[in-house]
Amino acid sequence: MRKYYLLLLSLFFVHAIFAQQTALRQVLNFDEGWRFHLGEVAGAEQPYYNDKAWRQLNLPHDWSIEVAFKKENPAGYDGGALPGGIGWYRKAFKVSPADRNRQVYIEFDGVYQRSDVWINGHHLGFRPNGYISFRYDLTPYLHFGGINEIAVKADNSHQPNSRWYSGSGIYRHVRLVKTAKVAVDQWGTFVRTQNVSASSADVMVTTIISNRTQSDQKVTVVTTIFDQTGKQVAQNRSAVIDIKDTICKTDATLQVTQPELWSTDAPYLYKVTTTVYADGQLTDTYHTPLGIRYFNFDADKGFSLNGKPMKILGVCNHHDLGALGAAVNTAAQRRQLQLLKAMGCNGIRTSHNPPDPGLLELCDELGFIVMDEAFDVWEKGKKPFDYHLFFRQWSARDLRDQVLRDRNHPSVFIWSIGNEIHEQNDTVALRIAPQLAAVVHELDTTRPITTANSRPDTTNKIISSGAVDLIGYNYHNRDLASFHQRYPGKKFIGSETTSALETRGYYDMPSDSIRRWPLDSTTRGLNADYTVSAYDNVSANWGGTHEETWKLIKKYPFLSGMYIWTGFDYLGEPTPYPWPARSSYFGILDLAGFPKDIYYMYQSEWTPKPVLHLFPHWNWQPGKTVDVWVFYSQADEVELYLNGKSLGVRKKTGEDLHVMWRVKFEPGELKAISRKNGKVILTHKIVTAGKPAKLVLHTDRSQIKADGNDLAFITVEALDVKGNPVPEADMQADFQISGAGKIVGVDNGDPVSHAPFKAHYRKLFHGKALVIVQAGKQPSAIKLTATSPGLQAGTITIQSK
Ligand code: GAL
Repeated sequence: MRKYYLLLLSLFFVHAIFAQQTALRQVLNFDEGWRFHLGEVAGAEQPYYNDKAWRQLNLPHDWSIEVAFKKENPAGYDGGALPGGIGWYRKAFKVSPADRNRQVYIEFDGVYQRSDVWINGHHLGFRPNGYISFRYDLTPYLHFGGINEIAVKADNSHQPNSRWYSGSGIYRHVRLVKTAKVAVDQWGTFVRTQNVSASSADVMVTTIISNRTQSDQKVTVVTTIFDQTGKQVAQNRSAVIDIKDTICKTDATLQVTQPELWSTDAPYLYKVTTTVYADGQLTDTYHTPLGIRYFNFDADKGFSLNGKPMKILGVCNHHDLGALGAAVNTAAQRRQLQLLKAMGCNGIRTSHNPPDPGLLELCDELGFIVMDEAFDVWEKGKKPFDYHLFFRQWSARDLRDQVLRDRNHPSVFIWSIGNEIHEQNDTVALRIAPQLAAVVHELDTTRPITTANSRPDTTNKIISSGAVDLIGYNYHNRDLASFHQRYPGKKFIGSETTSALETRGYYDMPSDSIRRWPLDSTTRGLNADYTVSAYDNVSANWGGTHEETWKLIKKYPFLSGMYIWTGFDYLGEPTPYPWPARSSYFGILDLAGFPKDIYYMYQSEWTPKPVLHLFPHWNWQPGKTVDVWVFYSQADEVELYLNGKSLGVRKKTGEDLHVMWRVKFEPGELKAISRKNGKVILTHKIVTAGKPAKLVLHTDRSQIKADGNDLAFITVEALDVKGNPVPEADMQADFQISGAGKIVGVDNGDPVSHAPFKAHYRKLFHGKALVIVQAGKQPSAIKLTATSPGLQAGTITIQSK
């Protein structure tokens, strides 16, 4: 009898622990094990639909990037000349009977576009906006203890619908979220700070609790702030709240003493943990990031962060990840941000749509000032099937969801409610702009609102509506200095600048005449040869070169900062050339993520690191006149030597951002030496290379995670027998891989190449190619070999752990 009693008791405890664990929030990665079918199918939303013949894949997935470029694809070359179409995804999954008393939601970070979602044949909803995050409540339709089937249709068949490459499908993450009946609501916390000083900061936390029990609940909310080491620094316990309805709101103010401030140099993150008790039982634990910082835009002094004046040194980016297309991957996003950070960049504009939420987490962690943008169009479209078709019905909802989702990120500083909106010169803007601003203000008054204006003049109705806090200029270099004559007392942001053009590794002589391309907007300079010189002397006619633009922004303190068009080349909008070009030339880095020379100009201006960058390469016809440029910093002067002979000393004077020598080419060694007070700071040599003799591989990371997701970015270069890089090498390299890893993309940054990104070969372009290797789930040594006829093969081994 005693034995029986003990058994019962222990069963009770096991049950109690189990019940408590399952009562709490579970956030489950739901990316794996989907079936996919390209094309419309009838009845695929129905339960028991036979999808066995469909392809198996894991998300995130972009079907457009898997196929060939074609001029005829209806997206056009602005859309990247890749196909759209309709795609179906299905996934079957079990839900435990223990979940019967819980809530089960599915969360999508983004589906491009016009998505419909069904669970067990029941239609959950439609979202036209391909960049918005959304969730559905599955609870009423689930078979607890049985099999459930999710079906998703993504319809990207209405083309063209974008001015840039969009990608297609479930290209961001999906999660299954299980909570107790009393839990923090979707995006249910709002954390912000006030009275921030070195000695203390007030942290205000609003929490929305949802009650799905259908009965009154007595709820207590405990809000705790932890520092980066996990130490508790503040706590607040709410009074007992009677929730009679389905939703209730509670506010708390906590004080953090001697706060570590979040800045772009030291992005310190706290964590706010919200625990919810219903009738004394713990029902939810929910985490929100917290960065304690304050900032100001001043009409005269520009931007300051935590009381320190600084400029926003940002870039605009589209969402594609080059050869990976739109399919998000944290390692690829992190690599992009780290490359930008190393250049001294401190800002990202998510042009022209809500970003992947993972990107904002990385911006919080790495320290970027984000302009979080909502729309590229309002009611007037730019492409026949773009979001203007949905704007009236969906914009308030989409904007609201974006702000709710993103307002806790310390990296988000500015809301942009539109880019180059056609209504700028239409009185309807007097209605729409304030409506959108009201949506934002209802949810967040801690950040300024802007729009990126292509016509920032007195006829601009968005600006005259008074809805924007920051006046955003796209380009208009000529009007920057006189901004306050047009807008006295107003605050400025360079919402989009520059639009300079370059092909990595390609150089035209001479380098000192500025060209504005395309020559006209219809032919885009059709008579040219698809190259753009990588000296910084070509820009779009509405923009300026990098140097021209930065000199202006640098000069006037009231110009609070700039978002350069663009950080990386992107698929689509192949300015200045049309097809066969299929990606842009605007990037400071090319599509493969290889820096163009101008990267080092910014690094010399924006980082304290000593820089000495010498270019172009040193392989020319004897006797050719070659312009040699040097970007340098932390030095007073640079001396150039050709085959040991000095070609003179140069110093930047006035506003100079580089120095130049005009040199008659002779093969050999070109060497630059930078000096400060006569002491050598850095040396950079370039040697005339011989014929390619071998391939070499370098990786960005030699150890990656064996999680089925992580990536290594491997650069392939051709060297001559002496080990000098061969700048014009363009042979094809073939790749073999062994170990638990696979090649998920290849590229070389050539905007005109039509070779597939999903392949085991790639030609080098100006001496370089890229192979993206993804880890499997087995820890392994992953070996990549690159071969090319007549060359010694290159190999590299990386470890996945
Ligand atoms: C801007 C526009 C961007 C891009 C850029 C190219 O006017 O906002 O989306 O098209 O031009 O220079």
